[in-house]
Amino acid sequence: MNQDEMKQAVAKAAIEYVVPGTIIGVGTGSTANFFIDELASIKGKIEGTVASSVASAERLKGHGIPVFDLNAVDGISVYIDGADESTKHLHLVKGGGGALTREKIVAAASEKFVCIADESKLVDRLGKFPLPVEVIPMARSLVAREIIKKIGGEPVLREGFTTDNGNIILDIHNLDIMDPVKTEEILNDITGVVTNGLFAMKPANTLLLGCQDGVKVIE
Ligand code: 5RP
Repeated sequence: MNQDEMKQAVAKAAIEYVVPGTIIGVGTGSTANFFIDELASIKGKIEGTVASSVASAERLKGHGIPVFDLNAVDGISVYIDGADESTKHLHLVKGGGGALTREKIVAAASEKFVCIADESKLVDRLGKFPLPVEVIPMARSLVAREIIKKIGGEPVLREGFTTDNGNIILDIHNLDIMDPVKTEEILNDITGVVTNGLFAMKPANTLLLGCQDGVKVIE
């Protein structure tokens, strides 16, 4: 299986985790796109979705799948989304597609987070993939200085990119994240930071990992 086939396999496997008659949280990215395409085949069995980005909402609507505003629903049974990195403890780095804030919000509103990823995303330690941080534009320099002071690494502005919330992204390169929960807390505490891409304080509940020999379930 190539990488896309592995992504497709986990997207298909995630359908098992869809709770009929409920609202499903839907993530962003190429793996989430495969999941959206799979979800289309059972769209009559769910009440609808909440999307973590404008792009995913458009793709869902294109399939005729109802998309609700998060404020219009009572709850979400399960959130299904990809990741840029995951450890075996299901601590994640997300936000490669820049949707980290809405992803964290939809994940927080969901009873369960099922992460879907190909085997290249499983790592021993997080940080090789540059850690995305969404920042209020006027705080860019302040936040970059504070990041260097408090956790090190090299924050780099994602050029020409604006989030769905109208903010910028700083990608922190050259990090070796020994304590993901602590690092997430430190970044959350920096004034001007909207969200950081670490999902460690509230990790995924299940990781469906696409491997050469099939889909592995890690819980
Ligand atoms: C988007 C994300 C994605 O889940 C992450 O970037 C993985 O993307 P892909 O499925 O394309 O590898 O966090 O903000």
